[in-house]
Amino acid sequence: MKSDQKRWDKRFGRKEFALGKEPNPFLKKHIRLLPKGKALDMATGEGRNAVFLAQHGFEVDAMDISERGLKKTQKLAREKGVHINTFLVDLDQYPIEKERYDLIANFYFLKRRLIPRIKKGLKKGGRVIFETYLLEHRTLGTGGPKQAKYFLKPNELLHLFQDFRVLFYREGIFREGGRGKAVASLIAEKI
Ligand SMILES: C[S@@+](CC[C@H](N)C(=O)[O-])C[C@H]1O[C@@H](n2cnc3c(N)ncnc32)[C@H](O)[C@@H]1O
Repeated sequence: MKSDQKRWDKRFGRKEFALGKEPNPFLKKHIRLLPKGKALDMATGEGRNAVFLAQHGFEVDAMDISERGLKKTQKLAREKGVHINTFLVDLDQYPIEKERYDLIANFYFLKRRLIPRIKKGLKKGGRVIFETYLLEHRTLGTGGPKQAKYFLKPNELLHLFQDFRVLFYREGIFREGGRGKAVASLIAEKI
């Protein structure tokens, strides 16, 4: 078993939802910019964003390495009366099918070498919504990952999607979801 899997299974092992049941505020605010159809939620965790997408009419595939996270995703989906397809996979190894998705969501999961696979997995005209921590977040003392590789440098996310049409981009410190966080958020379209 991978150490990531152990760590996240432990974090998601409690009855309470470690990351909450509410969707990410950036996703919630910009849901109208996202093209309806088949969606992939990368590293879905306990499914807060996947379930929100399903509630808004998306057909959702939710992938994660944590079995406990995916069980909670299914629990939340049942609670909200929606259907989600869950896949227990190691995204480091998983080949995302080419041009399968209208939307790929990636929240708080930064693996730079997966970016080309996200791009390939989208249909032409499909969109990606992405948000994760900036390096500055480490100075805030409000939680988050330990290792520097999991943080974005200034403008890095924008550059990672420079071959897409960027529809929305922001960087900064935002007070959302009850705590301050330094993040970059992007919505971009495959052209
Ligand atoms: C910070 S959580 C984010 C969860 C979710 N995206 C959200 O915003 O609520 C990171 C997630 O990445 C998952 N993860 C870590 N390594 C992974 C891998 N190699 N393949 C798939 N999922 C992985 C963890 O299990 C965890 O659910």
